[in-house]
Amino acid sequence: MKIAIVGSGYVGLVTGGCLADFGHDVTCIDKDEDKIEALERGEIPIYEPGLAELVKANVAAGRLAFTTQLAGAVAAAQVVFIAVGTPSRRGDGHADLRYVRDAAREVAEAVSGFTVVATKSTVPVGTGDEVAQIIATTNPSADVAVVANPEFLREGAAIDDFKRPDRIVVGIEDERARSVISAVYRPLYLNKSPLMFTNRRTAELIKYGANAFLAMKITFINEMADLCEAAGGNVQEVARGMGLDNRIGGKFLHAGPGFGGSCFPKDTLALIKIGQDLGSPMRLVETTVSINEQRKRAMSRKVVAACGGEVRGKTIGVLGLTFKPNTDDMRAAPSLDIIGGLLDQGARIVAYDPYGMAAARGLIDTVEYVSNAYAVADNADALVLVTEWDEFRSLDLARIKTAMKAPVLVDLRNVYSHDEVTRHGFAYFSVGRPAGAGGKSGQSEAAE
Ligand code: UDX
Repeated sequence: MKIAIVGSGYVGLVTGGCLADFGHDVTCIDKDEDKIEALERGEIPIYEPGLAELVKANVAAGRLAFTTQLAGAVAAAQVVFIAVGTPSRRGDGHADLRYVRDAAREVAEAVSGFTVVATKSTVPVGTGDEVAQIIATTNPSADVAVVANPEFLREGAAIDDFKRPDRIVVGIEDERARSVISAVYRPLYLNKSPLMFTNRRTAELIKYGANAFLAMKITFINEMADLCEAAGGNVQEVARGMGLDNRIGGKFLHAGPGFGGSCFPKDTLALIKIGQDLGSPMRLVETTVSINEQRKRAMSRKVVAACGGEVRGKTIGVLGLTFKPNTDDMRAAPSLDIIGGLLDQGARIVAYDPYGMAAARGLIDTVEYVSNAYAVADNADALVLVTEWDEFRSLDLARIKTAMKAPVLVDLRNVYSHDEVTRHGFAYFSVGRPAGAGGKSGQSEAAE
């Protein structure tokens, strides 16, 4: 099947690479000439495990190509995916649909023969109708079925998520699209991933509903963590005990510094706006967003408290900057709020992240960036583990302690256990695991 993908960013590249791997003939399109030239040389502009190898193999096999020329690729395609960005519009939080509308116009002018146009970008409910309208107005003779086909890819695990999805959601209004989309995803549903057809508006709502619900789940366990600290419980065991109930499920119940990234913050805001506009407010989501915003900054106060209430003139080492591991993405990363709060309090910040430092440098230049975790510890008054990269999971704690001025570890991802850290003489602070709360972990009594 011939497929064109408009937008060669994160979603477009993962989708293009995976569909080519299924044997389809895929062309990824982007306006950015430098990006396309780099992709043709085999250079991938983002860090996503396995993506470079996937792209390289499919280019070599002749199934994946890149171009800046939309018209030719779209004219040849039976299916066109729109995978352009939908950032938050400055000021009001609505999704900015400018790139989707531009893509719809350009696709309308280029299509030839019956073509399915599928939106992968996360778009407000009703956008599929608008895309169909734009195409009909731009080119009344275009024979197009517009489909909503949201992605559920997690950064850092995107290829696996694409190839082994929990479900594929397809919103259609034109029955002819059903067999075309079924052919695109055939290898997946042969592997028993449910292909769920619904109408277009419902598909658009499923995407926002899923992301907002997950954001709510995280926020709920974060508040439970605070309650555990106040009441003397262990949030990891609370999460396990709750999650063993199949109706709840154990995933996305890891307490931490608050959610970040390119999707949850943007999509929750957009859903709130949609609800307000339609007179059907999403009050739980509104509260989720506000709790999460406050939480990120509150984490810097937690660090200050761990340092005895004062960080002015002290050196705080930060381990991990990206919003989660296995990505170089710094968008809405909790580290930004935490570091901002500590800088405001007069701390000196030294930081290391395996892949996030290039992006972080562009966002905060008052931080001293070093090349490994041990350099972060050097002469530090406290270490804060913000992102749970694997390489931070088994640090040589004896070496870290020797390097530090004061052995204080604030573990915002509950990577370590109380016993193993305090055994090395650290004052240890984690999230929702106060001392004596049961389990193997707790907060340092020595440090309180
Ligand atoms: C998310 C959705 O998972 C994905 O389906 C959607 O398509 C895009 O948005 P992503 O943003 O890549 O994916 O990351 P995800 O793994 O969902 O994590 C989002 C944030 O929540 C991160 O900051 C992460 O640290 C945080 N998180 C996640 C928690 O704090 N606790 C958890 O239990 C899970």
